[in-house]
Amino acid sequence: MSATHEPGPRTPHGILRDGDQVQLTDPKGRINTVTLAAGKQWHGHKGYLQFDEIIGRPEGIVVRSTGGIDYLVFRPLLQDFAVRMPRGAAVVYPKDAGQIVAMADIFPGARVVEAGAGSGALSCFLLRAVGEHGTLSSYERREDFAEVARKNVEKFFGGPHPSWKLTVGSLEDAITETDVDRVVLDMLAPWECLDAVGKALVPGGLVCAYVATTTQMSRVVEGLREHGSFAEPYAFETMVRSWHVEGLAVRPDHRMIGHTGFLITARRLADGVTPPLRRRRPAKGAYPEPAENELTRGNGNTFPAEPVNVTDGESEIGSPPA
Ligand SMILES: C[S@@+](CC[C@H](N)C(=O)[O-])C[C@H]1O[C@@H](n2cnc3c(N)ncnc32)[C@H](O)[C@@H]1O
Repeated sequence: MSATHEPGPRTPHGILRDGDQVQLTDPKGRINTVTLAAGKQWHGHKGYLQFDEIIGRPEGIVVRSTGGIDYLVFRPLLQDFAVRMPRGAAVVYPKDAGQIVAMADIFPGARVVEAGAGSGALSCFLLRAVGEHGTLSSYERREDFAEVARKNVEKFFGGPHPSWKLTVGSLEDAITETDVDRVVLDMLAPWECLDAVGKALVPGGLVCAYVATTTQMSRVVEGLREHGSFAEPYAFETMVRSWHVEGLAVRPDHRMIGHTGFLITARRLADGVTPPLRRRRPAKGAYPEPAENELTRGNGNTFPAEPVNVTDGESEIGSPPA
């Protein structure tokens, strides 16, 4: 990326400059995010700091306020920026953004479509992963949220990102891309987009949906199965538990974020391919009982009349390798 994208928190290292965003962390761990401005001051709850004491120095320094408080100075990481940036819509949590990048297999040079852009937090993670040789096309149906997303992404990268296109509109109506490698959906009703996603993805491409509730997860998974263009979906969630580590007191922190969302991934089949037979019989009662003559091959509420042996260690279609 050219120097026109600087300054901005994307600058991963180097001397702190006028206009850079930094985090000031006090001894109690409280964080204030400020923008350095030559000749100006930042006022804390006890005294103030001169920005000129920071500008021109490296990250990781400690500066003392006139009130005697020591502050650690670092540029924010993307995870810090994402949870503190101005919001229109709720943002993806960094732990889930990390999972999305890994489990949706976002790679440098990938052609990725995302909806909705919301506040642009996930867009920043995806742009970092696709890099300058990939593309990210983000759709957001609300103009006001799209504006928030644009401002956040430009603030993070220090200017417009060369790989990013943002379109105001609903993905299912507005999408123009074809031959897309990956589609990431973070929205209320991803199942409404499955036709559009199926048309946009290349065979072998992958769709990843991030949803908040079990009912949404169920609709996405069943929608993918019924659609016919996707292999068996994989649904999961992650929990992150931080630890208190001090001398002999080594234990999980008392508080944790108990729930953020669920992730579902599925691979696009080649055109004309019938989804493979599901190899595990659904539990009795999982679906309404179909009449015997309604049992067919395929996905959805169909399963073989006879149980199929699945040997230990064999993974389900769509689940990641052990
Ligand atoms: C939870 S937010 C996305 C947050 C975003 N991933 C982030 O990290 O900032 C969901 C967004 O999806 C948008 N949305 C919902 N359905 C959509 C659709 N079919 N096409 C485009 N955007 C949609 C909503 O307006 C909302 O802004």
